[in-house]
Amino acid sequence: MDDLLKNKNYIMLSDISRETIETNMNDWVVDHYLGRIQCSLQDWEMSDELKQIITKFAKQFNENAEFRYVSFVRYSKDFGFPQLGPHLDPPTKEHFMFDIQLRSTLDWPIVVAQDDEIKEYTLNTNDALVLEITRNAHWRKPLRFEDSDYLDMLFFSYTDNSLDIPSLEWQSETGLKHMDSYNEELATVYPESEKEIRDRYTNSIKKENFILQGQVR
Ligand SMILES: [Fe+2]
Repeated sequence: MDDLLKNKNYIMLSDISRETIETNMNDWVVDHYLGRIQCSLQDWEMSDELKQIITKFAKQFNENAEFRYVSFVRYSKDFGFPQLGPHLDPPTKEHFMFDIQLRSTLDWPIVVAQDDEIKEYTLNTNDALVLEITRNAHWRKPLRFEDSDYLDMLFFSYTDNSLDIPSLEWQSETGLKHMDSYNEELATVYPESEKEIRDRYTNSIKKENFILQGQVR
């Protein structure tokens, strides 16, 4: 894993179109809007040993589960102002994802809306949450990051080819339902009055300044 994540290019999400995200997922993709950086490995880039260990757990949830990819994500003010609003992930045959917390300087609850029930999960180091990210809207409870704060996650994606792909119409309706209350809460964490300062800070972030390369374990 260590070797595979070294020597990647840095790409600003603002510089690539939605369509090209998948082809760039093997590079470090910096997302200013979410205040995060991410890099992914496809099935064939993963060591068999690691894949076997994690797939053993996946099969306990679904016998048909097939490993798709793993992403490393770091949220930090190095990349913008961390936040993640209510959304569903793009429709695929993905059944579930393991959200594993590697390390963090703060407790940052993941919120999941399942039918009409809303649940919060706060992970500790090495905790994993199993989430159906294409079917249940999910987000992070608005929380202010200070300069030294960061959160590192690993996401393992598993597909089930016998599943139907969820429709886009249904997706937007479910995802948008929680957006107003999220934005209200976000404004208490990152006030509107500071927006100009935040924008200036975000625009000043340059990929040349990142030193994360080769430091991922
Ligand atoms: Fe998601």
